[in-house]
Parts: sequence; structure tokens; C-alpha cells
Amino acid sequence: MSEFKKTVLCIGAGYVGGPTMAVMAHKCTNYKFHVVDINPKRIDAWNSSDLPIYEPGLDELVFERRNKNLFFTTEVAQGIAEADIIFVSVNTPTKTYGHGAGIAADLQYWEKTARQIAEVSTSDKIVVEKSTLPVRTAEAMSKILKANSRGLNFEVVSNPEFLAEGTGIEDLLTPDRVLIGADESPSGQRACQEIADIYSHWVKPERILTTNVWSSELSKLVANAFLAQRVSSINSISALCEATEADVNEVAHAIGTDSRIGPKFLKASVGFGGSCFQKDILNLVYIARSYGLEEVADYWEQVISVNEWQKSRFVRKMISSMFNTLAGKRIVLFGFAFKANTGDTRESPAIEVTKQLLEERASVVITDPKAIENAKIDLVEYLDQIEFEEDPYKAAEGAHAIGVMTEWDLYKELDYQRIYESMQKPACLFDGRNVLDHSALHELGFHVFPIGKSPLVHH
Ligand SMILES: NC(=O)c1ccc[n+]([C@@H]2O[C@H](COP(=O)([O-])OP(=O)(O)OC[C@H]3O[C@@H](n4cnc5c(N)ncnc54)[C@H](O)[C@@H]3O)[C@@H](O)[C@H]2O)c1
Repeated sequence: MSEFKKTVLCIGAGYVGGPTMAVMAHKCTNYKFHVVDINPKRIDAWNSSDLPIYEPGLDELVFERRNKNLFFTTEVAQGIAEADIIFVSVNTPTKTYGHGAGIAADLQYWEKTARQIAEVSTSDKIVVEKSTLPVRTAEAMSKILKANSRGLNFEVVSNPEFLAEGTGIEDLLTPDRVLIGADESPSGQRACQEIADIYSHWVKPERILTTNVWSSELSKLVANAFLAQRVSSINSISALCEATEADVNEVAHAIGTDSRIGPKFLKASVGFGGSCFQKDILNLVYIARSYGLEEVADYWEQVISVNEWQKSRFVRKMISSMFNTLAGKRIVLFGFAFKANTGDTRESPAIEVTKQLLEERASVVITDPKAIENAKIDLVEYLDQIEFEEDPYKAAEGAHAIGVMTEWDLYKELDYQRIYESMQKPACLFDGRNVLDHSALHELGFHVFPIGKSPLVHH
């Protein structure tokens, strides 16, 4: 007899699977949590002192629970066979080939997982969709499982993850809400209760929302679309502020204090990134088009178009303010991660900015406290044209310009007098996150170009 009440398996040891299971293992010590992945390097890292992802608070939780009720292995089949509940948290990127390329979700990893669950199971299972998926994917999952069930019962439940990287552990410990979508049948409702039981170890009942499966799947896509829409909305206004001498921070504050609008996600920047926003909106657009809802699709597609435009606008501003040529100029990017407190660079605006700077024949230097290794992977085709330097002071030596790409606290605390002195003159600073003290930098001698505000230049 196992010492544990239930065995939970998580397939996919990524940014979602690892932290989610670490928090569950910390809160439900009477359950066993087994995290599996097909990538042995990732699993080795989860079992080492140097975890494969950086997330504040994650190390402590993993080190506390690992090999007690939290296990990381590559034994996918064995894990499936032993589990009562299976969370599937594999990647669901945008398709890069065939029909729907560049827009639809690539469900190959998802389907392989479904087939493997059906193939190796010897007892009934609850299968939980943790990955973000197109609405009605649970139906496909159920069909694959049922077609291969050999008399077993599989109940598919949707439980999308709303954590944000950089605050992932905090978000998991104190979620705004947990969403569980399940079939309305008695067995569906029993499965829903089993998942709610896990969360009720630390989440209040009023924050555990239950819906039908389709509402749950769609809500995740819609939440990301609305968040990204707020960023693109304020970024579109940032351009208007630059043209009219309004200040985007003042506008954001003025509108954000309206309780109907609210203050969050109104920060103008060089653009949003991350593995989810773009792919989930594309997914929504694809689904809307597949139902013939062209206007709905066009509406949401604009959120992405504005984001692409904002990144290009940032580079164009560099060009026009540096005498219309960047050729041969040393430009240092402060930060490469898509946001602070993560090493994740997926869809980071810094990727596109770097590529456009290289097209202008600039000499690009990248510095970041956590993301240099990922940056090298993203820019693998350009490695001979880029310098990577962890020390921001060394990176800035001899530079013509700095572009702030990530709002790391460390960039707010640097000695900019020292940096200014080591740079070429005129020294330009483009603050793509509006996080530095622009007047102080201007006083030091920099030409300062914020987002959505008048530049502070010397004549
Ligand atoms: N990253 C986020 O902030 C975030 C937030 C909420 C939701 N999501 C969603 O969660 C899902 C996972 O995202 P992520 O960022 O953790 O992705 P990730 O790429 O970091 O991790 C996915 C892992 O799944 C593994 N995998 C793929 N196929 C497998 C298989 N057949 N068997 C075992 N392992 C397999 C991969 O090797 C990889 O390690 C996605 O659908 C994403 O949209 C992500």
C-alpha cells in the first residue's frame, strides 16, 4: 500500500509543469507528484542544484520536496501506469508547417501524449489539460482515449494555468482564481471534485471556479488576449503621446484610476513577449476564422500587428535619432528576457529588435543576468555578429547607444556616470521599458529617448 492518498503525474517539466507540481507537492504532502519529460537534460537539471528555469522562490520549494513527494524522471510510461490523475503540460506552440502554419496550434505533442496515455494505462484515469489549448481540444482528447480505452474510463478535465513567469510561485500560491472545466455528467463532476480537492489544500472555495469544459478552454485564450490587448492599446497611445507631447505614464495613470479600467497592464513598452500571448491570440484568430467569424478574427489580429509595429518603431527611432545610420555603431541591449525575473526569452521583443539592428549593420552587444544562454539559442544564426557580455559596464564600454529591453531592477541601480564616461559621444539611451530616471540620465549628458514621452536631448 502506498503511503500517499493519490499519485499525480505531470507530463511536461517546463515553465508550467515544474513550478505547478512543486507548489502542489509543498501544499499536499499526502499526495505523490511525479513530473516526467522526454527531454533527459531538463530532467537532470530538475534533479540538480541548478534548476532548468529561473523563477523566484522555486529553488526552495523544489529542494524542500524533491525525493519526498516530488519526483522528476523520464519514465513517462511507468508514470502513466502508476498515476490516478495526469496533468498534461506539454508545449503547444504555433504550427510552423502545412495548413494553419504561423497561426494554428501545433497539437502533435498533445496528441502523442493522449495516445500514450491510452496505450499504457491499466486503470481509470483523470486526464487534466494544463496546457493552453484551442477550444474543444478536450473533445479530441476524449475521442482518442475512448477509441483506445480497452474498457477503461478516462475523464478529461480542463484546468488552465494563469501564472505569469517572474511571479509564478506567488501566482500559484495565491491565485486570483483556479478554473476547472468538466463534463456535466456524474463522472465528470466527480473528476472535477478530485481536482478541486487538490487546490482546496490552500485555495479558498470561492476562488475555485467550475465551468463546462469549453468555457474553461476558451477563458484561458480570452484572458491572454485581453491582457495583450491592454498592452497594445497603451502602446498605440504611446506613439500618439510622442507626437503630441503628452506623457504616456500620465495618461495611463489618469485612465487607470478609473475603476472601470483599472491600473494593471497599462505600462507602455517596446512590446509584449513571452511564449503565450502571441500564440494564444493567433489561436483565437484561427478558431474565429474557422467558424467564419472574420470580423472577430480581424479585431484580435490587430493586437499582434500593433505589437510588431511597436518593436519596429523602437528601431526606427534609434535610426532617426542617431543620424539615420546605425552601420558599425555599437549598440548594447540591457536585458534579453521577455520580462524581469525570468530567463525565458521566448518571443522576447529583444529578438526582433536585435535582428532589425543587425539588418542595419549595427554591432550588437547583449547583456542579461539570466537569459544569455537562451539568447544564444534564439540568435544561433547570428552568433558571429553579436557579442554577449554578462557585465553591463563592460558591455556598454565604447557603445554609441543603450537600449533597455528588460525591466530588471539591476539596470535601475547602475552607476550611469561611469557608463556615460565609457561610451562614445553623443551617448544615446533608449528606454524600451520606461524604468530609468530619465532626467538624471539627461543631466549626466545622455540623449534620452523614453517610450511615449518627449525625448530629453542636448542641442
Ligand atoms: N509559460 C507560461 O507562462 C505559461 C503560462 C500558462 C500556460 N502555459 C501553457 O502551458 C503549456 C506548457 O508551457 P511551458 O511554458 O511549460 O512549456 P515548455 O516548453 O517549457 O515545457 C513543455 C515540456 O513538455 C515536454 N514534452 C513535450 N512532449 C512531451 C511528451 N510527449 N512527453 C513528455 N514530455 C513532453 C517538453 O520536452 C518540455 O520540456 C503550454 O500550453 C502553454 O501555453 C504557459
